[in-house]
Amino acid sequence: MTGGNAGIGKATAEGLARLGARVVITARDPARGERAVEDVRLRTGRGQVDWMPLNLASLASVRSFADDFGSRFDRLDVLDLNAGAVHSRRRLTEDGYETQFQVNHLGHFLLAQLLVDRLRAGAPSRIIVVSSDAHTGARRGLDFEDLQWERRGYRSMAVYSHTKLMNLYLTFELARRLEGTGVTVNAVHPGFVGTQFGRGGDTRLLGLGTLIARPFSRRPARGAQGVIWLAASPDVEGVTGEFFFDCSPARRSKPARDAEAARRLWDLSARLSGAA
Ligand SMILES: NC(=O)c1ccc[n+]([C@@H]2O[C@H](COP(=O)([O-])OP(=O)(O)OC[C@H]3O[C@@H](n4cnc5c(N)ncnc54)[C@H](OP(=O)(O)O)[C@@H]3O)[C@@H](O)[C@H]2O)c1
Repeated sequence: MTGGNAGIGKATAEGLARLGARVVITARDPARGERAVEDVRLRTGRGQVDWMPLNLASLASVRSFADDFGSRFDRLDVLDLNAGAVHSRRRLTEDGYETQFQVNHLGHFLLAQLLVDRLRAGAPSRIIVVSSDAHTGARRGLDFEDLQWERRGYRSMAVYSHTKLMNLYLTFELARRLEGTGVTVNAVHPGFVGTQFGRGGDTRLLGLGTLIARPFSRRPARGAQGVIWLAASPDVEGVTGEFFFDCSPARRSKPARDAEAARRLWDLSARLSGAA
């Protein structure tokens, strides 16, 4: 799973390790990766957990992670695209893309392309995309003329909402393309979860809001429940192309039902990530 060194991802790793799964989390910072692995091992007693380096803001890092993963592990049953970030200022990645666009969407798009053969070979297998109810904030859908937020004013939560809509488009389009292969693809909204999300880096204002709202938030373990269910439950065997919240269908905005936009984003992402 991407980004399992903190928050919902770490709680998901713990839950899956308790079920006896062998879990590989990713981290950008080796110290944080090692600490998370130690924590999960300690808390689960027998948990088989490893960490591997991955920075979604670098397409080279995504490629190198996929290569390393391929040489270390011969099977992949569940791919959990969990990592996410929110930034208050428009910054470009080393690949020249707006950072939230790349971290929350494009990097995951490429990773899924690079690992899909392995998932297909080991089918039945599952892909989970951690999206959010925040996708409803992208009320008019994506602006394909300005996906990188060069022309519009950069509002961090608006940009975030658009990337969470992209997560749903990736889910629905990938599910459509993998129909009949035994690889299912579903998205999940974890609820409002008290994690470090939005409190790191340059998002102090958002961090303050999160701090005030924290008493109303779920604990990471609660947020992870829906992800663990999608990863392991027989209830969702063969179910694909859905979006869940608390193990039930989640509400989708009208733009989220736009299959043409999902296809268009797919084609563009294939080109921008070099996966085409
Ligand atoms: N918390 C909520 O209320 C909520 C609600 C709806 C959806 N979500 C979604 O849930 C997912 C997990 O969020 P969380 O709340 O658990 O947040 P979190 O505690 O901040 O964890 C985010 C994870 O993503 C990793 N990450 C950030 N930037 C990365 C990059 N460039 N490359 C690779 N990994 C990166 C982080 O690693 P570092 O430790 O290195 O930063 C961390 O492991 C996100 O997709 C978020 O959109 C959260």
